[in-house]
Amino acid sequence: MGNPTATLLIDPSPTEANHIMMMPPIDPSPTLPPFTGGLFAREAAAAARIAEMAGALLKSRFATAMNVDFKGATDLVTEMDLASEALIRDELARAFPGDALFGEEAGGTDWHRGRVWVFDPLDGTTNFAHGLPIFSVSIALCLDGHPVAGVVHQPIAGETFVAWAGGGAWGNGARLRVSAQTDLQKALVVTGFPYVIADQIDEVLARLRRMILATQGVRRLGSAAMDLCAVAMGRFDVFWETSLQPWDVAAGLLLVEEAGGRVTDFAGAPMPLDRGQLLATNGRLHEPVIGLLAL
Ligand code: IPD
Ligand code: CA
Ligand code: CA
Repeated sequence: MGNPTATLLIDPSPTEANHIMMMPPIDPSPTLPPFTGGLFAREAAAAARIAEMAGALLKSRFATAMNVDFKGATDLVTEMDLASEALIRDELARAFPGDALFGEEAGGTDWHRGRVWVFDPLDGTTNFAHGLPIFSVSIALCLDGHPVAGVVHQPIAGETFVAWAGGGAWGNGARLRVSAQTDLQKALVVTGFPYVIADQIDEVLARLRRMILATQGVRRLGSAAMDLCAVAMGRFDVFWETSLQPWDVAAGLLLVEEAGGRVTDFAGAPMPLDRGQLLATNGRLHEPVIGLLAL
């Protein structure tokens, strides 16, 4: 499938020297929550710091010329996906030397067992590569396949979303709650489309058609991690998508649940990170949307 257009410049496993060279200076974020309570507050605090470092790196090269390669016909990877992955790996390994790592670009340990950091170094790569300022960094700690701490940072808006088991969900320093909307016709909803879509185009369009007709509006942002944050903070009432990967959803799923929302597959069953179907809602709209997504 490969359709390379350029050679990547940055080694995905940087040496100490080029790691330091890559890092732009960042100020401590004023938007982080007090990391108290719950078992994983320390991990959430570290992940937030690392996500903001990676975000600063992405922002420093946003809308500049860069090398792009293709993983599939439309699935691209920029040199900054790799640079961000390398930074996150390096920082997590330093902070938690006993933990395993599983990132989108370099893979890693089986995320189903033990303590594994599951992360997407750049969620919204297509937007990033086109100079569209909607992209994020997503980092989660999973315990036996379940997220227990998660961070999504959006560098251009300067927003950081953090959740940890027992600690609640936080956005820009404030507690997050999902929306109280109960009327689907007044709901603003969001979806996304997988890169490999030909074999499911009819189902994707059938569901989209029903949701367009039933709701106030449908959006497509291009970063699943940010879609989930927007449900957690009540900007959107519903998010659904197929074929998402563990790194796309691990942190955002925890954010929605800790904000009082519900995340399942399209049939309402609990969703393992690799289920390939995700429905996240404010809870109140979950059952009506399950009815609409059923084909
Ligand atoms: C993609 C984004 C997009 C979603 C795709 C994902 P990437 O991740 O989250 O919103 O629709 O399914 O693969 O490739 O930008 O990391
Ligand atoms: Ca992604
Ligand atoms: Ca990515």
